[in-house]
Amino acid sequence: MTREEQFKYLEQLRREARLGGGEKRIEAQHKKGKLTARERIDFLLDEGSFVEMDMLVRHRSKDFGLDKNRPLGDGVVTGYGYIEGRLVFVFSQDFTVFGGSLSETFAEKIIKVMDQAMKVGAPVIGLNDSGGARIQEGVVSLGGYAEIFLRNTLASGVIPQISGVMGPCAGGAVYSPAITDFTIMVRNTSYMFVTGPNVVKTVTHEEVSSEDLGGADTHGSKSGVSHLSCDSDIEALQKIRQLISYIPSNNLDDPPRVMSDDSPTRVDESLDKIVPENPNHPYDMKEVIHTIVDRDSFFEIHPDYAANIIVGFARMDGYSVGVIANQPANLAGVLDIDASVKAARFIRFCDAFNIPLVTLEDVPGFLPGTHQEWGGIIKHGAKLLYAYAEATVPKITVITRKAYGGAYDVMSSKHIRGDVNLAWPSAEIAVMGPKGAAEIIFKKEIAHAEDPGAMLAQKEREYREKFANPYLAAERGYIDEVIQPRNTRIRIIQALHMLQNKVDKNPPKKHGNIPL
Ligand code: HXC
Repeated sequence: MTREEQFKYLEQLRREARLGGGEKRIEAQHKKGKLTARERIDFLLDEGSFVEMDMLVRHRSKDFGLDKNRPLGDGVVTGYGYIEGRLVFVFSQDFTVFGGSLSETFAEKIIKVMDQAMKVGAPVIGLNDSGGARIQEGVVSLGGYAEIFLRNTLASGVIPQISGVMGPCAGGAVYSPAITDFTIMVRNTSYMFVTGPNVVKTVTHEEVSSEDLGGADTHGSKSGVSHLSCDSDIEALQKIRQLISYIPSNNLDDPPRVMSDDSPTRVDESLDKIVPENPNHPYDMKEVIHTIVDRDSFFEIHPDYAANIIVGFARMDGYSVGVIANQPANLAGVLDIDASVKAARFIRFCDAFNIPLVTLEDVPGFLPGTHQEWGGIIKHGAKLLYAYAEATVPKITVITRKAYGGAYDVMSSKHIRGDVNLAWPSAEIAVMGPKGAAEIIFKKEIAHAEDPGAMLAQKEREYREKFANPYLAAERGYIDEVIQPRNTRIRIIQALHMLQNKVDKNPPKKHGNIPL
């Protein structure tokens, strides 16, 4: 070949690789409302920044006529690029090639990207759209999956890992996204399940559609497997870009500081009135969050799952923070199994990646009942306690109203290494609510009273006046300061600045044994 012919040949190979499974299959992909693997990468990364790896890889299978069909790239597009100028690694499964199914070589491409990302300390973003293990390959495909699962596990807590699920993701393949830090799904075009509707029908006789069994809304609201549900591929990719903006590239790095024009000393008088006079009335903790963080910076995670607790990223004076907040507007902000697990996982992500925790507390306690006890609220609630207790990042807590019982201890109290613990004057820090307390302590007096109802009300008032306030805790130093609500933003920002160089560590060990 002449030099010119060599260049032409290379260009021809590249063109062929870019076409994936060919025009017809690309058209079919678009008809389903899905982007192709390459289009997804283009939307995800800064324009023109993608550098592809292993474009010319072909599979080595010979069975079932596969030796006559060896498409370039083998069904997954891999490489690196930039999001807002920051390096990320990406793999994007190409459904137009063998249904995006995973072969030995396909797995090797993903493994290469993951290994490289670990060496240079950059996030891995996986875009999943695959029929699972390449059936013609048998066990080597399974081996490939296991190699990926291993790397997902070893990379956990070292580099952030984000999964976009944008098509089928079934069988054991679901366990890669499940180990990663965040899973983002697209409504109506993606699903995740261990066994599909046909197997479910055979085994349990249940009739269920793919979407109901494992679609974005199912996993975003019922199982909590998915952290965000989106209406389109493009929305999902934008969310991934947004998510990356709050987190560092690796566990030795700090998250980027993104300044806004929102003054760190802004006071907001509306907060003084947000807690209702009647302690049994709800209010929306999201209003508090939006008011105290940098304008428009709150990025909620798991918005449709366990709504009695709110978690998400935000910025305060440009610094990334992880917000964990009880939501009195949902189930009175009680802690149950789902809320505990949701918050614990979020806290552990923030702690692994140097993101300070800001906790807003209004919690009447753990949810009573057989459903919760038999479901293991003891071990699940313990996860939340464990996550807060082991976290060594800066921890700032603001008690807006109720902090009752064990939930007071759990929600980043001073005793489990809360750094700065503040309370509003409306805070009620006590072993339990005044009514329950009066009923127990004054059981006999109430029973023998002429008017038991009036006696209970009187005893409840007495208990409230004595204990349902922040001042006994402040007297002990369990609360550093009782603040006027309007000053919450500035007080948290002052604490963040003060804690910027905080160093704390846990005893050396192989790893702890979080109650799973
Ligand atoms: C090889 C596959 C494939 C696979 C799909 N294709 N899945 N090839 N191995 N796993 C091919 C199809 O033969 C077809 O090729 C093309 O991809 C597109 O598939 P369609 O069926 O036409 O697409 P669609 O109707 O959209 O259905 C998508 C699908 C279906 C629901 C994913 O293809 C499907 O059920 N696939 C098999 C899923 C599966 O059982 N996988 C193994 C699971 S076990 P042509 O040439 O006809 O266009 C597993 C274990 C992992 O994954 C364990 C890890 C521990």
